[in-house]
Amino acid sequence: MSALFEPLTLRDLTIPNRAWMSPMCQYSAAVEGPEQGVPTDWHLTHLGSRAVGGAGLIMTEATAVSPEGRISPADLGLWNERQQEAFGRVARFLAEHGAVPGVQLAHAGRKASTDRPWRGGAPVGPEEHGWRPVGPGPIPFDEGHPVPHELDEADIRRLVGAFAAAARRALAAGFKVVEVHGAHGYLIHQFLSPFTNHRTDAYGGSFENRARFALEVVDAVRAEWPEELPVFFRVSATDWLSENPEDPREGWTADDTVRLAKELLSHGVDLLDVSSGGNAPRARIATGPGYQVPFAARVRAETDLRASAVGLVTEPRQAEEIVASGQADAVMLGRELLRDPYWPNRAARELGAAGRWPHQYHRAV
Ligand SMILES: Cc1cc2nc3c(=O)[nH]c(=O)nc-3n(C[C@H](O)[C@H](O)[C@H](O)COP(=O)(O)O)c2cc1C
Repeated sequence: MSALFEPLTLRDLTIPNRAWMSPMCQYSAAVEGPEQGVPTDWHLTHLGSRAVGGAGLIMTEATAVSPEGRISPADLGLWNERQQEAFGRVARFLAEHGAVPGVQLAHAGRKASTDRPWRGGAPVGPEEHGWRPVGPGPIPFDEGHPVPHELDEADIRRLVGAFAAAARRALAAGFKVVEVHGAHGYLIHQFLSPFTNHRTDAYGGSFENRARFALEVVDAVRAEWPEELPVFFRVSATDWLSENPEDPREGWTADDTVRLAKELLSHGVDLLDVSSGGNAPRARIATGPGYQVPFAARVRAETDLRASAVGLVTEPRQAEEIVASGQADAVMLGRELLRDPYWPNRAARELGAAGRWPHQYHRAV
């Protein structure tokens, strides 16, 4: 029996296995006009291939809740009808092939308006379809980045509403899981971390104040999402700053993550998708196989919240061990699934479990 290929039931939703596709931006939508932010044939084929490959859950790339929340002008969005319709086609296809369709809702905050990575990823201005980013304060992400517009309380209320509206559209499009992107130095993480949040109002200062925006977003999304379906939250478990003796800059820590996990649970979140980093340029990160698994394991050991692990999980037996040992309830696969869309079906064969090959391919199984 393989733990990786055991179904997982969250609320009334059963996810057929625990090998899931991690959200990965494709930077491949139209940058202007009516098709702006709309999933294309690329997204359908890219996500669809991984459903055919046997992943239990497919998480879309960071999908912006408003235009200025896109990381690049070519990101997907879910703020209008046309986008909702096109996402409907994607979600339907994923479900038809046995994968649970999940959508990651995001706002990039001060890290928005950058070029596609393969063109260098530098900030872009209006001449290249860019815009002035927003953030918790007027502090740029890094050298060469613009000074963000500091959000006031009315802006924050509007953004919380944008997350709720996008969740409503995601549900109408057929998604069964919604994930709030609170990681990787994007807007919610910018509010959470003392490294990026220097506000003196109700949204800054104490842990409670820094977590206020995240929890307001979660409450707004939860209110739109049916009781019987799960909500996920992606967190960066650490900024890799104050916990590193060689980098004393004050940041978000693994202890903060455990504390936040308990809050999220009481606000109706069902699973914490545990990543790390992204908030502080030049933070020193000790990567290696499964390097973020211990953060997920802490959440599982110290709270009642479910957790998934992500980051350099590439081998079937490694993934099996993570789930079987109880370090995480599921694994998210990123780059390995880009290299091999059939990884889950290949892992199932290696672990002696039943994969999920489409009928059309049965002569090859
Ligand atoms: C091309 C690419 C795009 C990504 N886009 C996102 C994203 O939209 N949202 C997110 O939370 N993480 C994103 N990530 C991070 C992945 O989801 C994952 O956490 C990371 O790659 C580590 O897992 P891996 O070692 O299996 O690749 C991206 C990673 C890659 C390689």
